[in-house]
Amino acid sequence: MKDIVFFGGGNIAQALIAGLTSNGVEKKKIFFIDRNTLNQKKLHRLGIKSLKKSRIDIDLFILSVKPKDALEAYKEILNSYRKPKIISLVAGIKSSTYTKLNKDIEFMRAMPNTAAKYSQGITALYNSSFKKNSLKKAHSLFSKLGTVIEVDSDSKIDTFTGVIGSGPAYFFQTLKSFEKKLMKLCNQDEKIVREIIANLMKGVGSSIENDGDLDNLIKAVASKKGTTEAGLKSLKSNKLNQIFEKGLSAAIKRSKEISNEF
Ligand SMILES: NC(=O)c1ccc[n+]([C@@H]2O[C@H](COP(=O)([O-])OP(=O)(O)OC[C@H]3O[C@@H](n4cnc5c(N)ncnc54)[C@H](OP(=O)(O)O)[C@@H]3O)[C@@H](O)[C@H]2O)c1
Repeated sequence: MKDIVFFGGGNIAQALIAGLTSNGVEKKKIFFIDRNTLNQKKLHRLGIKSLKKSRIDIDLFILSVKPKDALEAYKEILNSYRKPKIISLVAGIKSSTYTKLNKDIEFMRAMPNTAAKYSQGITALYNSSFKKNSLKKAHSLFSKLGTVIEVDSDSKIDTFTGVIGSGPAYFFQTLKSFEKKLMKLCNQDEKIVREIIANLMKGVGSSIENDGDLDNLIKAVASKKGTTEAGLKSLKSNKLNQIFEKGLSAAIKRSKEISNEF
């Protein structure tokens, strides 16, 4: 495998690097460029080196800066390196905003999530101008981090951003209600509470993976006039699903708005 450079070494780059290196990608094949000293330290601690200024022969850049910094960073790559391929992880900004700056470049978008760190990520890919062989290699790279799905428009990447890129945060937020109850129940023992919540989520994941249908899974837990039924009834009457769906729509809307800001 040729070297990969992360332009931006923050949250998502660190998650991807951890996932890649625990799935057979050698640390010496990964480099980063980042101005933030805290992120530099974190990556050095993971055994990842910053890219030497003298190197211009980079095959693949992964653009992983915030949207506000993306176009400057992209231009810097175009100006300083010899025709690299570029995969953008940046939310919102459409492929054409980049490719119109240089029509010869191989460019695509990828929308991963932080669970890539544990090889349980989900990444949506949208190819703009990667050649067939480069796309195959990119697909195989992200496959090391979990599930990969190829979509056929920028707009679907925006939807994935709101649902999957942001997805883990919705569950972390929801789980705060469980944490609150469990902390009292477990005499404020954070360690055991985290273990319980993690197992609850792992169990949910395994049930979905093995048994599939969500309605059947609900039925298997909720017996007539039981506690689950009472809990579900209250959640439904408070329109839990509608609230959730509104949240997802707000995130998708924001992702599309970002694309109009650039
Ligand atoms: N976090 C996620 O879960 C997630 C998931 C999917 C996609 N994404 C996308 O990934 C991108 C990065 O998100 P993030 O959460 O990883 O951001 P982040 O933690 O802020 O990391 C970005 C890093 O890039 C550095 N940087 C920005 N411009 C630079 C430049 N010109 N030269 C050198 N370093 C530069 C930043 O430094 P400063 O701190 O000094 O600005 C920062 O250390 C975003 O566009 C986001 O939409 C994120």
